[in-house]
Amino acid sequence: SWVSRVREAMLSWFDRDGRAALPWRADRDPYKVLVAEVMLVQTTVAAAGPYFSRFIRRFPTPEALALADEEEVLKAWEGLGYYRRARQLQAAARAIVNEHGGRVPEDPAALRTLPGVGRYIAGAVGSIAFDRPEPILEANTQRVLARWLCWEQDVRSAPSQARLWEAAARLVPPEGAGRFNQAMMDLGATICTVRAPMCLTCPVASDCLARLEGRQDELPRRAAP
Ligand code: ADE
Repeated sequence: SWVSRVREAMLSWFDRDGRAALPWRADRDPYKVLVAEVMLVQTTVAAAGPYFSRFIRRFPTPEALALADEEEVLKAWEGLGYYRRARQLQAAARAIVNEHGGRVPEDPAALRTLPGVGRYIAGAVGSIAFDRPEPILEANTQRVLARWLCWEQDVRSAPSQARLWEAAARLVPPEGAGRFNQAMMDLGATICTVRAPMCLTCPVASDCLARLEGRQDELPRRAAP
């Protein structure tokens, strides 16, 4: 089926060509995954790398972050901007310590009770750290999905977002969810790029509806703001 072909193509592509060297991929410590995902919401992968490593060195566990002075946390965040996220991350660390015994919760509903943790971050932590088959949708994966499905509507509309989350949920495999979701991000960042996507090296080209119709450059569509 289409779903099983896409899953297999993505998982084997990830093992071969995924960005395994990214600093937050050295292990699956759920706390590190959480810190990385919070940083990556507003910061590029290239910019986040050094901040992530420094932040984890200074606050290596939820306890360390929970107990730190807020000023010290903001100092470590300096340059990343969006300081509200740093405050929320510390509040999340405190909730993890006070309400979850110091362990990042596994359950998506519990994850979403943490300050600053919405559907995307809960899905990313659930899948990457715990290998739960939770969907994610962010800028890169949204573009990939819109092209695979040849989605014609404005991707930012509420119905499109609902449809794309649904597609992500249908695609994420029961085994290897974390690898699959990271493969989506990596494909969007390196091959299925905004401009001039490199379909000739794409592992999913033969199953991509936009590519089959030669319309990959027109999608995803965004209504004029
Ligand atoms: N963007 C958001 N989360 C990411 C991750 N875990 N790896 C690469 N890019 C990302």
